[in-house]
Amino acid sequence: AAIERMRRVNPGADPLRLVPDVHPGRVPRHIAVIMDGNGRWAAERGFPRIFGHRNGAGAVRDVVMQCGNLGVEALTLYSFSLENWKRPDDEVKALMYMAVAYCHGEREALRREGIRFRVIGRREGLPSEVVEAIESVEAHTANVVGPTLCLALNYGARQELADAARRLARDVAAGRVDPESVDEAAIASRLYAPD
Ligand code: IPE
Ligand code: MG
Repeated sequence: AAIERMRRVNPGADPLRLVPDVHPGRVPRHIAVIMDGNGRWAAERGFPRIFGHRNGAGAVRDVVMQCGNLGVEALTLYSFSLENWKRPDDEVKALMYMAVAYCHGEREALRREGIRFRVIGRREGLPSEVVEAIESVEAHTANVVGPTLCLALNYGARQELADAARRLARDVAAGRVDPESVDEAAIASRLYAPD
């Protein structure tokens, strides 16, 4: 049953071949990774921090594909937090530039490999080139049947709740939602990736 469920989302899932000693029902449906250590990894090798960020990004596709083969339905990578704005200007710029370059570089490969691309996080505050690049890849892979690669960009969990509450408050103020009807689904449908 677990394998059927996986294959509906991701036809290529084959956990029994890859990890025969793990029950398919125990493969997580969603894995989230807080990426860390890119800068130190590069420094140990005598390279600037951005070299580490670039190599980290280069490893992403392989990791998503392997997760997909294992039957994991979604992989969320925390790639830029609200805290990260405090980093030196140059590093922030380089990370934003990398996000754009990543989207342009991976757009076709993601669709070809059957990976759905999503971004969660506050779009306000991101450079417009970044928003355009991610929306273009999201649209390009929207109908793909396969595992989801979700990037958390400019993401904070409390901010996500605050943003959902603001949307709900607007709907209530405009008379579109009755405050007494607010339930879990009303919140859930206003999160960054409701589906
Ligand atoms: C993680 O690596 C990448 C981002 C959060 C953008 P770090 O940049 O945190 O690398 P270290 O921790 O300084 O080595
Ligand atoms: Mg760190």
